[in-house]
Formats: sequence, C-alpha cells, structure tokens
Amino acid sequence: MTATATLARLKRMMPEHIKPKFSTAEELMAWQREQGEIDSKRIADENRVTRLNKIMGRSGISPLHQECTFDNYQATNAEQQKALHKAKKYAEEFGQSFGGFIFSGNPGTGKNHLASAIGNYIIQNGKSILIATLPDLMMKVRDTYQKDAKTTESKLIDDLCEVDLLVLDDVGVQRENKNEELIIFQVVDRRLANKKPVGILTNLKFDELGRVLGERVIDRLRMGNPTTINFTWQSHRRLVK
Ligand SMILES: Nc1ncnc2c1ncn2[C@@H]1O[C@H](COP(=O)(O)OP(=O)(O)OP(=O)(O)O)[C@@H](O)[C@H]1O
Ligand SMILES: [Mg+2]
Repeated sequence: MTATATLARLKRMMPEHIKPKFSTAEELMAWQREQGEIDSKRIADENRVTRLNKIMGRSGISPLHQECTFDNYQATNAEQQKALHKAKKYAEEFGQSFGGFIFSGNPGTGKNHLASAIGNYIIQNGKSILIATLPDLMMKVRDTYQKDAKTTESKLIDDLCEVDLLVLDDVGVQRENKNEELIIFQVVDRRLANKKPVGILTNLKFDELGRVLGERVIDRLRMGNPTTINFTWQSHRRLVK
C-alpha cells in the first residue's frame, strides 16, 4: 500500500476529534523511516551487548565502573585536570585515529574511572568497548581448552579483535607465560593491523611495560600516537569513607 493510501485509510478510521499525527504522506514516510532507524539501532545495540556478554559473561564495563563519567571525576590538582582533559579529548576524537592509550600509575588513582568514562562516552555514539583484566582474559582463554568448551581460542581472539576499543586492565600482574604472551601479541598485532585501538591500564611504569608485554607488543601499541597519562597522585580509595 502506498503512503498516501495508508494515510487516507488512517484518516477514515480516526474519530473526528483526534488530530492525525501526520497530515501528509511525506510526514508518514519520514516517520516510518525514523522508526526503521530506531529499530535497526536497537538490534545493533542488542547484538553488541550479546557479543560482549559472550566474551566475558558481562557487559563491556564492570558494574563497579558503570557509573564513571568525566563529570564525576574529581580533578583537584593540575595533573588530574590534565589527565581528565586528555581522556575527554581521546573520547571525543575516538575513531579519527587508531591510536590507543596507556594509563600508568599508582593504585586507586582513577585509571579505570577514566577508561570507563571513555567507554561510557563512546557507547553513546554506538561504539563498543571491552575493559578486561589480563588475568580474567587468560582464564577465558584457558576455558576454551576444556573438553566441553563453548568456544575456541581462535574464536575468542576473533571476538576480542572485533570490539571497537579493547582495554587490557591490570597489565603486569600476570604470570610470565609464553602462551599468554603469544595470545596478547596476536590480539594486539591483529587489532593494530586492522587500525583498531588498544588501551592499557597498568601499575607499571612505561619503561617496565616492555619487559612484561614484550618489545614487539610495545612497538605496535606506539602506533597511531597513543595518549599516555601518568597517574602520579595518591589513591582516591583512601578518600572514600
Ligand atoms: N579523581 C577521582 N574522582 C572521583 N572518583 C575517583 C577518582 N579517582 C578514583 N576514583 C574512584 O576511586 C575508585 C578507584 O579508582 P580506579 O578503580 O579508577 O583506580 P585504578 O587507578 O584503576 O586503581 P588500580 O591500579 O588499583 O586498579 C573508583 O571507584 C573510582 O571511581
Ligand atoms: Mg584499575
């Protein structure tokens, strides 16, 4: 049925006192198009959440950090203000370059807070993010070696490469293990080759990262001019009563 015919039928069915929502066929068609776009966005959002759930059994940002935004990050000194500004800029410019970020520094200083704020920002723009600790990720990899595993190692690596932004958290606490090193290399190498950024959260200093991740990984992370922030101030956890 044409939009004009649909409109005529709707007008006939409608009681006199109700003003129709659309008075022209163009308006009706525009409305239908809009609804179609809303529906396809909803389906895309659902698919994204399902995919992320499949990888870690949860959404991309852990429950503790889901409320973290740039607005509720307290920047009381110049260094924190600079960190906040850099993180915000990264989120605003996400997608323009494939550079990732390295947030390095003391515990409780807000590395996850700002990474999650970036995530919460880019999600609004239809992008996907997964923040996963390396130990958790490696556990998921080991799970795939079980007899009754639901997925394979290579499928898991594919999934990790598909997310728009992958953030590797707690880098430096993992055991030295050749297989784990190789998996991290594969993920980082494939993502950067496909111009997809990787973020790193770590308590290690920049120069110590190479020892843990290997120089070949560091070399790739340096691609695309990554944002680096040194979190040098004291823990915010101590301030929370
Ligand atoms: N400047 C800040 N303003 C508001 N909340 C903050 C700030 N810094 C940290 N927090 C809060 O403190 C808690 C700890 O911060 P976060 O998890 O980001 O630390 P982290 O740097 O990742 O530490 P770790 O190295 O131990 O993982 C979080 O709940 C976070 O929201
Ligand atoms: Mg952290």
